[in-house]
Amino acid sequence: MTSLTTRHPIRLLQITDTHLYGSSSGKLLEINTQDSMDHVVKSVQKNEEQIDFILATGDIAQDASLEAYNNFMEAIGKLGAPFRWIPGNHDNPDVMAEAAYDTNACEKLLYINNWQILFLDTTVEGRVHGRLARKELDFLSESLAAAEASKEVNHCLICLHHNPIKGNADWMKDIGLHNRLEFFEIVKQNSKVACIVYGHVHQELDFQYEGIRCLCTPSTCVQFKPNATNFTLDELNPGYRTIQLYEDGSIDSEVIRVSGYTYEADLNSDGY
Ligand SMILES: [Fe+2]
Repeated sequence: MTSLTTRHPIRLLQITDTHLYGSSSGKLLEINTQDSMDHVVKSVQKNEEQIDFILATGDIAQDASLEAYNNFMEAIGKLGAPFRWIPGNHDNPDVMAEAAYDTNACEKLLYINNWQILFLDTTVEGRVHGRLARKELDFLSESLAAAEASKEVNHCLICLHHNPIKGNADWMKDIGLHNRLEFFEIVKQNSKVACIVYGHVHQELDFQYEGIRCLCTPSTCVQFKPNATNFTLDELNPGYRTIQLYEDGSIDSEVIRVSGYTYEADLNSDGY
């Protein structure tokens, strides 16, 4: 657990679904994922003056290799801000822990000013969908109870990889968080949860659910088209999200997509 005091508002960045390979020539649906992430990193360097923390919400690697995680660390290191990462369905949590040895990257609980930030592992080995194991549900429940009882914590933000609300495309309906009802049962017992941040569905979403702001962010590589019956790639550029957390619990957030980059994904692909 880390506790930090910084300015208000707290300025976070979400970077998600980088799908890096051990080899810098690795391609996903014709996109060189290292190259597209490098464009996102350059865009952050150009646009953002100061970042307090980076949330990396899974599918860090496509091939789950140690080299891919090292490549991520090298790229993110250029931004000069601390980060935490959680695994997605393409990741191997054990290899991530090995890559993060001697760092705080895998830490699951963070306090910044009067905000608590939680990082959950929703992965199920060998499966695309997500599920919170008993120990993750217990961690969520215990951490939120501690926040509820604390005078120093006024607001909570939860990070996870899998969408806890059903996807908006037909092909996505089974790939989200399968025990979403158990998740929300715990979340709704707490009065301080203000925001849920996730990745997995490679698109920009910003909506309220059960009074909680829900944010999903484009991948740094391929984009999935919302509301499609079958798997369909979108033609939008990769990007990242800024999240500003205010002392009173309000949140400003914006997705920034890279410019000056020719996105050449295989738009005829029927899966990945
Ligand atoms: Fe992904």
